[in-house]
Amino acid sequence: MIWREILKKLANSRDWTSSKLLCEKFNISRTAVWKHINYLEEKGFIIDSQPKRGYKLVFPKDTILALDEDSFEGQSFGKDIFHFISIDSTNAYAHQISDKVREGALVLTEQQTAGRGRKGRSWFSPFGKNIYFSIILKPDLNLTVLTRLTIVIGVSVAEALSKFKINVKLKWPNDIMIGHKKVGGILSELYSEGEVARYVILGVGINIHSEGYDFPEELRDIAGSIYSTTGARIDRCRLIIEIIKIFEEKYYSFISKDGDIEDIAKVWDEIAYGKDREIMITTGTGKQKGKIVGLKSDGALLANIDGVLKEIYAGEILI
Ligand code: BTN
Repeated sequence: MIWREILKKLANSRDWTSSKLLCEKFNISRTAVWKHINYLEEKGFIIDSQPKRGYKLVFPKDTILALDEDSFEGQSFGKDIFHFISIDSTNAYAHQISDKVREGALVLTEQQTAGRGRKGRSWFSPFGKNIYFSIILKPDLNLTVLTRLTIVIGVSVAEALSKFKINVKLKWPNDIMIGHKKVGGILSELYSEGEVARYVILGVGINIHSEGYDFPEELRDIAGSIYSTTGARIDRCRLIIEIIKIFEEKYYSFISKDGDIEDIAKVWDEIAYGKDREIMITTGTGKQKGKIVGLKSDGALLANIDGVLKEIYAGEILI
């Protein structure tokens, strides 16, 4: 698609890109260039144009559509990429293509119109500001250990963010927190036939540039972005590359250890949200006050509730 090639060229040039250069590079007319630029603008990109100088990408400067297969250096992740300006949900799309793609295929978008959160919730997914992607995995492991992948990717996201000097906490099972604001979440979906997993889709959403006031009112007190909570501006492409790099390494180590996450659980323990105080947990049996003790090596939350150590497999930390 030429519009994506043009967008990539604009994203990778700091300065103006002349219309002449785009015509020559893509072997198209000036009118065709102009039509592609118009298409991008209609979709929400802001592109400055000046007759003598050409075009310049104004928003979003760090468009994730500039990422391509060469951006990822690992063994196999990111070798197949499906890009969208807007899509209902990257997880939903990943589900449609999973049987036909290789392990490590990525679905990336600038916007979701029906972004999915956990527990049937929706995920706030405006254009151009945040990260929304899904990765397709085909692990040949017992079903029971696969839910642990949520922890593996959560720790990978935290580690990747720390490379940008952003320290987050992980709220069990998979919320990415800065202070008391949720800045990201992970939706893992497992498709199996009987006892055999066909594929696992891990969907990652991280609020990067959204301003506090961008969030719908009902989310303002509980959700934030990297920018709104820390003032830092992170390049979304660089962060995705870092997450995939770290996750790929941890994923293959997880596979080689038959799903053991002892090392990862140790890291998780260090950055667990709410460890220092009393928290409220919802479990099958209702709401209970307790203290987080750590993560069991099978991914369960260990909590001290009324002096009794409990393993929690399904539930949520409320505060
Ligand atoms: C949560 O509720 O905390 C999980 C949110 C997961 C959101 C991401 S955004 C990319 C991927 N596609 C979706 O529809 N959801 C996940």
